[in-house]
Amino acid sequence: MAVKRRPLVAGNWKMHGLRSRSSALVADLAKELERLGATGGPVDVVVCPPYTALCDVGRELQRTRGIDLGAQNLHWEDKGAFTGEISGPMLVEVGCRYVIVGHSERRQFFGETDESVSRRLGAALRHGLQPILCVGETWEEREGGRTEEVLTTQLRGALAGADGGPAGLSVAYEPVWAIGTGRAAQGRDAQAAAVLIRTLLAEKFGPKEAAGVRILYGGSVKPDNIGEFATQFDVDGALVGGASLDPGAFAEIVRQVMG
Ligand code: PGA
Repeated sequence: MAVKRRPLVAGNWKMHGLRSRSSALVADLAKELERLGATGGPVDVVVCPPYTALCDVGRELQRTRGIDLGAQNLHWEDKGAFTGEISGPMLVEVGCRYVIVGHSERRQFFGETDESVSRRLGAALRHGLQPILCVGETWEEREGGRTEEVLTTQLRGALAGADGGPAGLSVAYEPVWAIGTGRAAQGRDAQAAAVLIRTLLAEKFGPKEAAGVRILYGGSVKPDNIGEFATQFDVDGALVGGASLDPGAFAEIVRQVMG
């Protein structure tokens, strides 16, 4: 029997949004979702503001319905001498339910490796946070015919941190060349990557567990291309960067994923 997966649309605000703007942004998003009849629909909606805005956005979300709070990263230790880092318990304390792990910008600019990503993933799962694990190839890797190899290495490496099972895990396929470039992948590329990801998940957790893991596409997702991804069998939603800073556009993406 086919497993029904509830779609997920997550907004990654990256390093955007002073506190006052963040509260206004999420309030506007709630209004837009309401206007489009997408509030409380059969889709999980998550916003991931910068750490400094988590409390304000969390407070705003208590007044609304149907939007969850997520963070953009976490450290693997619960506490300690790790200047500049934030731990799982700290995120849970401010109301986070989700956390992005292994985003390509972390790998590219902050030295994240498959090993550190696996430790962060393990910490998220240990604290009951739902990780959105990002994997994806660069343009050079794609041109060199190495997409499969790269995704396999990244995913196997990260999943070393998930020995307890994949409860709450989502995997976002985010080709690096598609992020912030306006040049999204094609629906069939996302589906092919999702099939590979699900095969690798099955290798680790067995087919039944793997069938329940949500796989997202990310990279220049906009209202005018989300339909192409949302209709792919193995793609269960999107991780949205730039367009998540526009409440109207993000709500429209959610509406289309809802179907
Ligand atoms: P983008 O970013 O939608 O702006 O391409 C996606 C991401 O980095 O998650």
